Amino acid sequence: MRSPKDFFAPLAVGAPTPVREVPARPSRMIHFFDPSNEKMAAKVPGMVGSVDVLLGNLEDAVRADRKEAARQGLVDIAKATDFGESTQLWTRVNSLDSPWALDDLVTLVTEIGDRLDVVMVPKVQGPEDIHYVDRLLAQLEARAGLTRPILVHAILETARGVADVEAIAGASPRMQGISLGPADLAADRRMKTTRVGGGHPGYLVRADPATDLGEGVDPVTAPRATHQQDLWHYTIARMVDACAMHGIFPYYGPFGDIKDVVACEDQFRNAFLLGCVGTWTLHPVQIDIAKRVFSPSAADVAHARRVREAMGDGTGAVMLDGRMEDDASLKQCLVILELAERLGA
Ligand code: GLV
Ligand code: MG
Repeated sequence: MRSPKDFFAPLAVGAPTPVREVPARPSRMIHFFDPSNEKMAAKVPGMVGSVDVLLGNLEDAVRADRKEAARQGLVDIAKATDFGESTQLWTRVNSLDSPWALDDLVTLVTEIGDRLDVVMVPKVQGPEDIHYVDRLLAQLEARAGLTRPILVHAILETARGVADVEAIAGASPRMQGISLGPADLAADRRMKTTRVGGGHPGYLVRADPATDLGEGVDPVTAPRATHQQDLWHYTIARMVDACAMHGIFPYYGPFGDIKDVVACEDQFRNAFLLGCVGTWTLHPVQIDIAKRVFSPSAADVAHARRVREAMGDGTGAVMLDGRMEDDASLKQCLVILELAERLGA
């Protein structure tokens, strides 16, 4: 049977392409910019060093008549900018069923393949989409003489993609991670929302009428608390499991209501607590939110250190502040500590 590593079989004379480890560099925020928008593009060099990932977006939100300008704009920016050690350069290419995807991949790998860390592939339907991109990248890398494989990130934004998320996550050793794409996914699932990510006030649970109002209480007029629910819980949890199973990174996607920084932070935090390592940011105001939310808090790190200390050789159980800690709570603490270490927090 073909192993995923076979996808790195060399296509040209020369050493086999090395399999690259999933990058340990942080990617708490994947900051989107439109390379066809000169004003936005001019700000990119100034953001290097302060964001983990800068992503030149070629897909949705770029007008059809600006696709070529966006592609060329990204080539120009990549050639003119030193991204240093702490900021990665990613791109989101057009979807594989569009007229632009092939030219996006050919041009970008040929022109700036040595600078691109990750190619984000939208509207992924199944592992076959990843295999296609993987093979194409291998050919283009070989032709360009690149020795560092470009990694692949899938957006989960079709019902079929969600149904096949485990296979997508394991489709290639190039897989770096998966993001939730709530806007396209909502449309594909025929949800009745009209937003880009986040919740909806109509998606709620309502408490029963207060029982202390006594017999005969009218449920229509009685005061009853309501709680808005997370529309994305199921999909994020499923995506996180698939990513954990294959050792790649899960991300929340876009939050379109730029003004609502409170709801944005809540959505990001829910994703972080469920296991996501980062999110997309669409506006500078979301960058600080992402940095704060996707870094463990000082209090969590201090608590995790205390548990590690108290647990000695890591087995058995101890009481700390009236709570039982054991091997499994220690493992959770080690996740926090490993993340803090990676982020230098
Ligand atoms: C992102 O691309 C989305 O559709 O939410
Ligand atoms: Mg989308």
